[in-house]
Amino acid sequence: MDSISIGLLGLGTVGSGVVKIIENHQDTLIHQVGCPVKVKKILVQNPSKSRDVGVDAATLTINPEEILNDPTIDVIIEVMGGVEDTKAYLLEALRKGKNVVTANKDLMALYGSELLAAASENGCDLYYEASVGGGIPIIRSLADGLSSDKLTKIMGIVNGTTNFILTKMSQEGSPYDQVLKEAQSLGFAEADPTSDVEGLDAARKMAILASLGFSMNIDLDDVLVKGISSITEEDIKYGKQLGYTMKLIGTAHRDNEKVEVSVQPTLLIDSHPLASVQNEFNAVYVYGEAVGETMFYGPGAGSLPTATAVVSDLVCVLKNMRLGVSGRNLLTPQYTKQLKPKES
Ligand code: HSE
Repeated sequence: MDSISIGLLGLGTVGSGVVKIIENHQDTLIHQVGCPVKVKKILVQNPSKSRDVGVDAATLTINPEEILNDPTIDVIIEVMGGVEDTKAYLLEALRKGKNVVTANKDLMALYGSELLAAASENGCDLYYEASVGGGIPIIRSLADGLSSDKLTKIMGIVNGTTNFILTKMSQEGSPYDQVLKEAQSLGFAEADPTSDVEGLDAARKMAILASLGFSMNIDLDDVLVKGISSITEEDIKYGKQLGYTMKLIGTAHRDNEKVEVSVQPTLLIDSHPLASVQNEFNAVYVYGEAVGETMFYGPGAGSLPTATAVVSDLVCVLKNMRLGVSGRNLLTPQYTKQLKPKES
């Protein structure tokens, strides 16, 4: 391969980070994959919008087919968000033999198994590290690093916005509405923060982690979800007085092959490792029968941390292409799920 051409779908917060990392870390990428990597075309909504990343205007397009039909584009990176149109683009890309990297948790939580099956059928890679935990390499850790173990529990703080809100409410005694505005101004919250504060964003991420960790199809509907919008400063203060910290905790538990997955505000004893995870940071605690306890911690959102996960997926895809082993995706589901009845 003389060089690799990428088609980028989306040039928002994460997309800009992807362009920056591909430019600024070109030496590292050449060292890793053996040839230059360039972004050939970028799908945007508005080509004339001013951006904080320098891109040649000729690379921008509003027509996805210009990217999907370009035979010189080997890999599609999807960071545009959205579900139905985005799914159609990615299925088209896979059917055309293009490998895909996506950061899209909504898409993977809803259609991950269908997309992974399409990738395998077409001998393509589909990687999605950035869909959970931003810069924390938790997907690959579950798929590879812990693949020989039988995991029984995955417990995490997987939404930075709510962790930021609960941290500030606890440290400063500030009211919920005020801290939510601060989180929005800092760019952690989704455009519509409902999915953050009502626990849906975390539920999508827990469905992805549980599916991978337990090797079965856990759907979003299988997750019991409760958000933080009704938590008051008093709830947090009284918990604190008793030695507990309020967190939005996602839990996936496997017991005698029955599984339960939930996202709920939880009072954690202060000595629990997840209780000290502050602000927008994320952490995932994993328990395996053989390994025992492990914990993964880091920035769960933000342009460059999330883009690091995306570009690292790209490196994997390119290494697989060089070796001629594309299409060996991060584990497709193996077991039929048996869920415990939801308790609220
Ligand atoms: N809104 C998400 C969060 C962004 O706050 O964690 C990263 O998925």
